[in-house]
Amino acid sequence: MLYSREKIEEVLSATDLVGLVRQYVDLKRAGSSYKGLCPFHAEKTPSFCVTPDKGLYHCFGCGAGGNAINFMRDINKMSFPEAIEALAKRAGVALPKPQFSNYGGEKRVGVSKTDLYAAIKNATFFFQDRLWGPEGREALAYLQSRGLDLDLVRSQGLGLAVNDWRALHNFLKAKGHSDKVLVDAGLIKARGANEKDGYYDVFRNRLMIPIRDLEGREVAFAGRVLPGQEQEDVPKYINSPGTTIYTKGSLLYGFHQARSYLRAAGLVFLVEGYFDYLALVQAKIPNVVAAMGTALTQDQINLLRGQVKEVYLLFDGDKAGQKAASRALPALLNVELPGKVIVLPNDEDPDAFIRARGVPAFYAVAETAMDILDYYVQGLIPEDKPTITSEARAIREAKEMLRLVPDAALSQLLRRKLADKLQLEPNVLSEAPAPERRPVLSAPTKATVPSPRIDPTAKSILAQVVTYPNLARSLPALGPYWPNDPSREVYLALNQQYLNEGSIQPEKIFLPDNEELTGLIAKAAFAAPTQTAEESTLELRQLAENMRSKALKAQHQSISLAMEEAEKAGDTETLKRLAEEKARTPHPLLAKMKPQ
Ligand code: CTP
Ligand code: MN
Repeated sequence: MLYSREKIEEVLSATDLVGLVRQYVDLKRAGSSYKGLCPFHAEKTPSFCVTPDKGLYHCFGCGAGGNAINFMRDINKMSFPEAIEALAKRAGVALPKPQFSNYGGEKRVGVSKTDLYAAIKNATFFFQDRLWGPEGREALAYLQSRGLDLDLVRSQGLGLAVNDWRALHNFLKAKGHSDKVLVDAGLIKARGANEKDGYYDVFRNRLMIPIRDLEGREVAFAGRVLPGQEQEDVPKYINSPGTTIYTKGSLLYGFHQARSYLRAAGLVFLVEGYFDYLALVQAKIPNVVAAMGTALTQDQINLLRGQVKEVYLLFDGDKAGQKAASRALPALLNVELPGKVIVLPNDEDPDAFIRARGVPAFYAVAETAMDILDYYVQGLIPEDKPTITSEARAIREAKEMLRLVPDAALSQLLRRKLADKLQLEPNVLSEAPAPERRPVLSAPTKATVPSPRIDPTAKSILAQVVTYPNLARSLPALGPYWPNDPSREVYLALNQQYLNEGSIQPEKIFLPDNEELTGLIAKAAFAAPTQTAEESTLELRQLAENMRSKALKAQHQSISLAMEEAEKAGDTETLKRLAEEKARTPHPLLAKMKPQ
């Protein structure tokens, strides 16, 4: 893909779909959505709908549907990247510089960056004031109880959002910031589709952590749930949305402050959490930055290039670590930065470790850091006795990781190394012949690329979850069974969103270039719910059960096939291993999903 998923999602959230469609279609308001004559087929009565809050359109007549990118592409007969570029330009989102072209200054529409910086700056002051005032006594004590000095709390600009729906809005309004600026800054949200319904503060009852850009300006916030209020259905962090001054995944927390120390130290400690960062700085280890969550991006790694000679990564726990390593490894290789992984004993996070055992112990463990490639390979097949399923999974994951290394020579080298360590033929890790790509600049015609078949159960599950977003909590459990067709990309994006934000907003995810899927999601997003909570849950459970048993059946079949071959070859050892594996794999007809 020409642009990162993060970039594309940023363009989508910066686009006003109704405004865009209005340039081509005469829209009339109908409840919370808009109706008009479909521009994609001839009709006399309007069956084309747009919902502004969902950012999706759908035609009940011809089935066309999707998000702003799909609309732009189809209405102007553009390619996918062209549509993204056109939308980015329209919304004033800067895309990464295309190589070898003169890059003119970006023109922005609507709210200026200066206004956004000012709003976030004043919000930082406001939150800081609350933390240091009478309302902040408990929160401040909490920070101290975590070993943080007041000086550090002050220099980081930490603050408190009080439990009030309007406190920040009122304050900033009095300072002269317009509602539009505050909405764009991600500080307040409209209560309804109509401006007259009013607004509410996004951050309430949270410990506020300002995020600064490369120049040290506050551009966004992370709000942590206050101590004693952690609950399963309350997200631990609420994060600012991407804005024109803040691109998600483009910054490292603490980078501005660490910068001068990085070159001197020659290495950086890259941790996951804000509190890990704070603990290291508190312990006088200033060459530290935090990734703000686990989905490490190439942009983040690029910041470190030229600053340090080595990156020491600290992950929380094995499983998250493996995932993070699969992102960090290609990103580091792409910019030729050596990476090492520090594995802390008992899955402790850096914050807990440093406080319990002190700095010398931390450096002692750091000395034993593993090369990131070795760490990655070790995690690919964690068991002593790999099974064919775990090996197959490892191969699939390794291929996915290899896809993030665009340089052919580097990719080949890495493939050979991995194959060697996994004891495979290198060609096992080669890509299947790539599907024919259409040239970027030609206008696509509808049926140039035959769409791969999509599993019907997967389609039904996506539709059900989008129509009944409360069901999103069932998504994570479906990962192992989700079929490997284009619907999987949508599943992964929704699941990721659910895990990050505690809820799903299908309009914000990047939809793959697949008409059937975009149409399906748009249709489901427009569907009026007809089932009760119990009915919709029940239906989803049934669908999930179908998906699971189908996946297990396929697994049983492939094991049986492998057993037949082993038997023919007289390989009793493999046969025994496979039989054990078969016994361990739940039988599709007997196994029931754990009730959610
Ligand atoms: N994170 C997030 N949203 C969540 C959970 C985590 O954005 N719902 C990101 C934050 O950047 C967080 C990092 O992932 O700092 C690591 O998560 P975690 O270790 O749970 O948080 P800490 O910041 O270390 O907080 P604490 O030590 O207080 O639990
Ligand atoms: Mn932590």
